[in-house]
Amino acid sequence: MNTFTVPRGTSDILPDATPLWEALEFLARKICKSYGYREIRTPIFEDVNLFKRSLGATTDIVNKQLLELVSSQREKPAESGSNGDRIFLNEYALRPEGTAAVVRSYLENSLDKIEPLSKLFYIGPMFRGERPQKGRLRQFHQIGVEAIGPNSSSPLLDAEVITLAMHLLKELGVKEPQLKINSLGSKEDKARISTWLRGELAKQKERLCPECQARFERNVFRVLDCKNESCKKVVASLVKDLPLSTPSQEYFAQVQAALNSVKVPFEVSPHLVRGLDYYTHTVFEITAAGELGSQDAVGAGGRYNGLVHELGGNPKVSYGAIGFALGIERILLAIGESSVPLSGVAVYIMAMKEEYQPLAFLVMQLLRKSGISADMSFIGGSMKSQMGKADKAGARFSLIIGEDEVKNNSIAVKNMETSTQESVALGGIVEHLIKVLSS
Ligand code: HAM
Repeated sequence: MNTFTVPRGTSDILPDATPLWEALEFLARKICKSYGYREIRTPIFEDVNLFKRSLGATTDIVNKQLLELVSSQREKPAESGSNGDRIFLNEYALRPEGTAAVVRSYLENSLDKIEPLSKLFYIGPMFRGERPQKGRLRQFHQIGVEAIGPNSSSPLLDAEVITLAMHLLKELGVKEPQLKINSLGSKEDKARISTWLRGELAKQKERLCPECQARFERNVFRVLDCKNESCKKVVASLVKDLPLSTPSQEYFAQVQAALNSVKVPFEVSPHLVRGLDYYTHTVFEITAAGELGSQDAVGAGGRYNGLVHELGGNPKVSYGAIGFALGIERILLAIGESSVPLSGVAVYIMAMKEEYQPLAFLVMQLLRKSGISADMSFIGGSMKSQMGKADKAGARFSLIIGEDEVKNNSIAVKNMETSTQESVALGGIVEHLIKVLSS
């Protein structure tokens, strides 16, 4: 018979690994909240056009990686004048990232009317139809942050967001994350620089790789961070710093000064452009060593002031927006851990005869009601085999119910670490365990 396997580019997070994920997410939430960010949860699928419009029709994510859903749904016949059931189609896509959906929700729920600056974070799965390899998955998880608000463009906010990304990575155990930053300038700067770049690159177009020759018209900025050696040489001969306008240069200088003031080390990388269209001004990428190989970006982000208007924001308001996302699977690769077999329960209960099992069940439920985590062997077995199960469950104490115990209305309590054992009256077992577990 055919068996099923997990879809390519996705993975199960098994019970041995979930404690690490839980701890990571707990810590991430705590740190984001300590910076004044609040959690937002949006659907994992959205109107496909939301992504097409926000990420850029020419980007790889939209062109090659969107996992689109076509949902067919029976529409209820209208009360009157209906021509019966008909199928209507809605086009959705699984979200490839979180920013577009957060902006959609920000506008749809008029968050700008509720608070002057919305500081939001999210943790959850994202989907891209990539060619899977180590650190590059089709379903992966991000911890993301977005700060959006009218007139909120402040270089200090750029610095706060970048500092938060670095703080998170360090607290989550990533050693020496490397931060690269750049500025793409304002929307006008970007348009002017595109024309300038196209003009310069046209002179050496034949030296560019086929992909960059194709990108040349569609998204000339991407030529700047192409990994092809010949493209790198062309770019190096052309671009030292992007020719930004004076206000954009000043803004970027203030971001750098603020990062210096809080001692966040960074390198300015004039060729860093990022693969999403919505960025203007500050962009950044954080890499790490460890087992990441070529997929070494553990996080990335930037400013995207123009996106709020593009998705329907009030044209009279000037919005500021900046954020980042960290890849959880890549963080796990960087810290070199994928699972921590942590203790499952505090107490494991063993009935030495089948007829004692109802008593074991009763005691187990009593303990749980008192807040003590407990489990038991539902199929019984020898003392040795049940002890093995108690060990596997990570129990600190095992409770043994044997013939003597039943006769004396007691329970044998074994400390699994020291192997010492004592007899405790059945009626006092909860109090006893509360005491020993807290010492
Ligand atoms: P991104 O650079 O596409 O940016 O993704 C951010 C991070 O998600 C990457 O640095 C990487 O760690 C992780 N990641 C991306 N794709 C994959 C994949 N296929 N497999 C495993 N991990 C992956 C964004 O998503 C933007 N929304 C970030 C942002 C937020 N910019 C402003 N606000």
